[in-house]
Amino acid sequence: MALILGLESSCDDSAVALVTSDRQVIAQRVVGQNQAHAPFGGVVPEIAARAHVEVLPGLVTQVLDEAGIALAEVDAIAATAGPGLIGGVMVGLLTAKGLALASGKPLVAVNHLEGHALSPRLVDPALGFPYLLLLASGGHCQLLEVRGVGDYRRLATTIDDAAGEAFDKAAKLLGLPYPGGPAIEVLARQGDPTAVPLPRPLVGSPEPHFSFAGLKSAVQRAVAAGSHRPADIAASFQQAVVDCFIDRTRRALQASDAPSLVVAGGVAANSAVRAALQQLGADEGRAFSVPPGWLCTDNAAMIAWAGAERFAAGLIDGLDAPARARWPL
Ligand code: KG4
Ligand code: ZN
Repeated sequence: MALILGLESSCDDSAVALVTSDRQVIAQRVVGQNQAHAPFGGVVPEIAARAHVEVLPGLVTQVLDEAGIALAEVDAIAATAGPGLIGGVMVGLLTAKGLALASGKPLVAVNHLEGHALSPRLVDPALGFPYLLLLASGGHCQLLEVRGVGDYRRLATTIDDAAGEAFDKAAKLLGLPYPGGPAIEVLARQGDPTAVPLPRPLVGSPEPHFSFAGLKSAVQRAVAAGSHRPADIAASFQQAVVDCFIDRTRRALQASDAPSLVVAGGVAANSAVRAALQQLGADEGRAFSVPPGWLCTDNAAMIAWAGAERFAAGLIDGLDAPARARWPL
């Protein structure tokens, strides 16, 4: 059994976790920065990087102390090396490099998207490769065939906004706080998802991709019209995103013989999204897996777990591993 320390700092969450190769999360901490960014309606990269500098080293100490584990007992140190806001990625990766150098333990440089992609396997031991993954987060919306550790085939991506970005923009238009996804989900519970006619961009298209920019513009027009209840707009928007997910994912499933359908990333925390994708899996005769909400939004357990999977496959990195703002899977 290997013990992996993981660090995450690619956006606005500073997180540290200690995870074992046999799927135990020994200890973990996530410190968000919502209050720091709220006045700006979105994440300010410079503020985020400075907050990671202040918070991350203390979180490492807290997690090790809580677990009663010394750094010398850890088998490897994993950190997000991209993609993400470059200042924050550098803070986490350099912190991990310092720990690796001081302890003599190997470094595992983890792609944040790989963290999301492998996260369901941390909690679902039955989930084997390959699986079809809908990865929907603040920065990405992709369909991937996950064939093995380090073996991913991208089937579709968004041609404009990411799904979480669409939630955040729609929330801003509705005067809701950042991050918009959870706020829209709460408001949508009081609304009618059929009340406001909104487009479903690319639904039915022979192209495999996603598009959400037109949906955002339609929300903008619905808000400006002033004739709809905000809860109805929120519910109708959420339903439109779900319909896009279902159409695009069904198309990919029908061209794939992967036995399982998986959804991960921050938007997978949404209960309407989870329920609809679960139904799609059942309709298409596939097993279905979605991580619990805390593992969908950014966290370090998924980075430590991806680190554990890579470490087990002999994939370790040198202390010259670069921090990358862009890094497709
Ligand atoms: O995976 P994540 O935490 O960070 C990135 O890697 O981007 O995803 C954050 C995104 C945000 O856009 C947020 O609004 C969205 O996930 N999100 C949700 C929900 N919780 C988080 N979207 C819809 N419903 C939610 N419950
Ligand atoms: Zn993420």
